[in-house]
Amino acid sequence: RKALSSKKERTLGIIKPDVCDKFSQILEAIYDRGFKVTKMKMCQLSRSEAGQFYQEHQAKSFYNGLIQFMSSGPVIAFELIGEGAILNWRALIGPTDSATARSEAPASLRARFGTDNTRNACHGSDSEQSATREIEFFFPSKGVKRRSTATFTDCT
Ligand code: PPS
Repeated sequence: RKALSSKKERTLGIIKPDVCDKFSQILEAIYDRGFKVTKMKMCQLSRSEAGQFYQEHQAKSFYNGLIQFMSSGPVIAFELIGEGAILNWRALIGPTDSATARSEAPASLRARFGTDNTRNACHGSDSEQSATREIEFFFPSKGVKRRSTATFTDCT
């Protein structure tokens, strides 16, 4: 398994509400690929928190459905560190649409666990800028004024 990039990076991953019960298999795939998991949090997003997280998609037709789904149950968010982590994690999760993933990347997490292009198992930051924003969203740095208004509900 060759890394796509050799630059050490941080990225944000999410196990979406449809596959929290597949947590152990997904974590195994993450460690198999050589990522370091440096932070992890299980929580339930409110609609407004999900909306804030996906603000770049606000004008898209799928936005409401996406927000509804992402706030429908627990998610597990984590920070990954590794060489080329941003691209490599996106490669491991596979194409957005799980059906496409099954034909083009059958070993990917979306092919294995996803259903369609909303219920698609995992999220991965798409750039360094998104990774910084998304890591800060779930794991606000101490001593810095919170940019995120998310409070996160415990999954009890
Ligand atoms: S896009 O359209 O190029 O911005 O697509 P992408 O960068 O892959 O991110 C889209 C996110 O929205 C979710 N979503 C959908 N995408 C495309 N089409 C439909 N119908 C759709 N419904 C929901 C998709 O799962 C992506 O979520 P994340 O969590 O970012 O992977």
